[in-house]
Amino acid sequence: MNITNKAVLITGANRGIGWALVEEALRRGAKKVYAGARSAFQHPDKRVMPLALDVTNASQIQRAAEGVDTLDVLINNAGIAIYDDLSNPEVIEKPHGRQCLRNAQSDERFPAASETLQRGHHRDQHR
Ligand SMILES: NC(=O)c1ccc[n+]([C@@H]2O[C@H](COP(=O)([O-])OP(=O)(O)OC[C@H]3O[C@@H](n4cnc5c(N)ncnc54)[C@H](OP(=O)(O)O)[C@@H]3O)[C@@H](O)[C@H]2O)c1
Repeated sequence: MNITNKAVLITGANRGIGWALVEEALRRGAKKVYAGARSAFQHPDKRVMPLALDVTNASQIQRAAEGVDTLDVLINNAGIAIYDDLSNPEVIEKPHGRQCLRNAQSDERFPAASETLQRGHHRDQHR
């Protein structure tokens, strides 16, 4: 892919693959790299514009979108990898299981996510 003179937005840009993607976009001559991160983030290259962006936070998404002028490439890299069985209720009790369901709530491909979260919330209240 030709990145020269392109504006690129990368989420989860503060570490891991996201950080590497920022470096690669700069190396390939991107004119602007919007670097989304949920913690404070700085980069010495002036082409990098940090954006406060938790991808599960609607108001931060809105604010980030308003801070972007034009965009050629969006790399939605932010995320967590879990290799558990999400049909197992004990896994859902783990913070990562709940976060995964929260992320899935707004996705119509996962209609059971809201219901499963609510069941867990109800159970917590009656413990
Ligand atoms: N590495 C692999 O072998 C592999 C394999 C398959 C898929 N993936 C996927 O590729 C992506 C990057 O992997 P990685 O190895 O670089 O992971 P990583 O080192 O754990 O980094 C994850 C990045 O995502 C950010 N993040 C997580 N939840 C976020 C949220 N709600 N809003 C904004 N940022 C969020 C983290 O920010 P914080 O620093 O704030 O936590 C961090 O910057 C992930 O989506 C992962 O699931 C990776």
